[in-house]
Amino acid sequence: METKIIKIGGIEDTAEIKAAADILKNGGIVAIPTETVYGLASSALSDTAIAKVFTAKGRPQDNPLIVHICDMEMLDTVAVDIPKSAYLLAEKFWPGPLTMVLKKSNNISESVSRGLDTVAVRMPSDKIAREIIAVSGLPLAAPSANTSGKPSPTTAQHVIDDLNGKIDAIIDSHDCTVGVESTVISLVGEVPRLLRPGAVTAEQLRETIGDIEIDNAVLNELKTGEKAASPGMKYKHYAPAATVYLVEAESGQFAEFVNTKTDAVAVCFDEDAGITVPCISYGSCKNEITLAQNLFKVLRDIDKRGIKNAYIHAPSKSGVGLAVYNRLIRAAAFRVIKL
Ligand code: TXA
Ligand code: MG
Repeated sequence: METKIIKIGGIEDTAEIKAAADILKNGGIVAIPTETVYGLASSALSDTAIAKVFTAKGRPQDNPLIVHICDMEMLDTVAVDIPKSAYLLAEKFWPGPLTMVLKKSNNISESVSRGLDTVAVRMPSDKIAREIIAVSGLPLAAPSANTSGKPSPTTAQHVIDDLNGKIDAIIDSHDCTVGVESTVISLVGEVPRLLRPGAVTAEQLRETIGDIEIDNAVLNELKTGEKAASPGMKYKHYAPAATVYLVEAESGQFAEFVNTKTDAVAVCFDEDAGITVPCISYGSCKNEITLAQNLFKVLRDIDKRGIKNAYIHAPSKSGVGLAVYNRLIRAAAFRVIKL
C-alpha cells in the first residue's frame, strides 16, 4: 500500500486537513499528531476501519481503543450515565492529556470496546488533531501509531519508521510536546481508579475529585491469570531490542555500577558524572516533564546503537515521574535493580 505523507503546519492548512478528514470519512486510517504521542486514527463508528488499525499495528485483539472527541457535544454521542466527576475533570483538564473511562453508548461497537461495557474518551489539546475530528465530524478511535510492543511515536519520523506502507496516510507535523501517552482514569467503579499515569498527575486528579485509587498494574507485573483493569497494561510494551534494566540508585552509585558493564549503554540524567560506558542523557532528574518528552526517542535510539544491554537510571515516582517510571518498568520487563 502506498502511504500518503501529508504535511500540516497548522490549522490554516485547510486543504490538507480536509484531505485527512476525507480519508477518515471514507473508512481509511491516518496517523495524526496529538500533544502526547502520534495516534493511528480511524472512524470510531466504522468496524472495517478499526479492523485495519489492529492489522497495521499488530495489536492484540482484546485491547480496546481510546475515542477522541473535539467538543462536549460529541461526548454525549459516545458515553452515557456520565458522573459529575467527569465534568469536573473535563473542566480542568480538557482539552488535554487525560482519558476517562465511562459507560459506553450504543454507538460504540464491540470493535472499539473489545468485550468491555465501557469506553475510554479523550479530548486532545492538539489543535490539528481537534480540527481533523471537527472537519470529519467523527469521533476518532486512535491507539498510539507504533507497531504494537515498540516505543510510542513522538515524531512523524517514528511513525514513518513503523507504519509506512501499512496505512493510508501519515500527517507529517510537529514533535509531540508531552511525550508520553495520556493519563487514563476509570470513573465507572465506586472509587475513581488511575489505570495509566500520564502528564495529568495523580496529585492533580486528587485535588480535583478527591480520593482515587492507583491500579496495581501501574507499578507491578500482573500475576498469571490476574485480570487487567486496562487490557493494555498486561502486554510487553515500549520495548527496545536491547535487554533493559531499570536501576534505582543515587547519582555516584549509578556511574560506579554501569562502569563495570560490557556491551552496555547507560541512559542517565544530566547530573550523572563519571560514566565511562557509552551513555545517553534523557534530561535532568529534577525535571520529570523533560524526562517524559525525551523518553520514547531515547528508547528508539538505544536500538540504533545495536548495543545488547541498556541500564536506565530510574526517575522519582512522584508527579509526571510516575508516568515515566511506569513506561520504563515495562520497557525493562520488570527487571529492576535496587542499589
Ligand atoms: O495519549 C494517548 O492516550 C494516545 C494518543 C494517540 O491519544 N493513545 C494511546 O492509545 O495511548 P493506546 O491504544 O496506545 O493506549 C490505550 C490504553 C490501553 O492501555 C487500553 O487498554 C486502555 O487505554 N483502554 C482503552 N479503552 C479502555 C477501557 N474501556 N477500559 C480500560 N482501559 C481502556
Ligand atoms: Mg500504545
